[in-house]
Amino acid sequence: MSATGSPPPVVLCLNGPNLGQLGRREPALYGTETLAAILDRLEQRASARGVGLVRCTSNHEGELIDALERAPSAIGAICNPGGLSHTSLALRDAYSAFGRPVVEVHLSNVHAREPFRHRLLTAGAARGVVSGLGAYGYELALDAVLTLWGKEATPA
Ligand code: DQA
Repeated sequence: MSATGSPPPVVLCLNGPNLGQLGRREPALYGTETLAAILDRLEQRASARGVGLVRCTSNHEGELIDALERAPSAIGAICNPGGLSHTSLALRDAYSAFGRPVVEVHLSNVHAREPFRHRLLTAGAARGVVSGLGAYGYELALDAVLTLWGKEATPA
């Protein structure tokens, strides 16, 4: 709890199938940095703005959906759904049900890859998408969530 008695703001960071293998997974495409290193840096960036980072990394669609459902105090979410981006109507629906901004991240530029990666089923329910900027995309997504939160939290 914060000094005001309300829970401290947190941003959820979800990573789907095969992203736990970053660092050794197809490094020419996804880089050599581990997911833990990327998320540690992201957590520091969030903490400098007084916001916590809640991580959920899973190969299982339902666990990502559960994480969105069980985060009532999150101000937004960053999500790299991995291959689920191209297939999961259920995760897309979970973005919509979450009701706060979800920024979807893809390390690679999916539009420059195989045609089956061009359709992002989940992204239609995201507030925005960052694709092709590697790990930097997570930082941009965090900044976007924080900016949107500031705008929404500030009366016009
Ligand atoms: C990915 C792109 C997806 O097409 C792929 O299935 C992944 C990673 C990316 O970060 O570039 O697992 O989401």
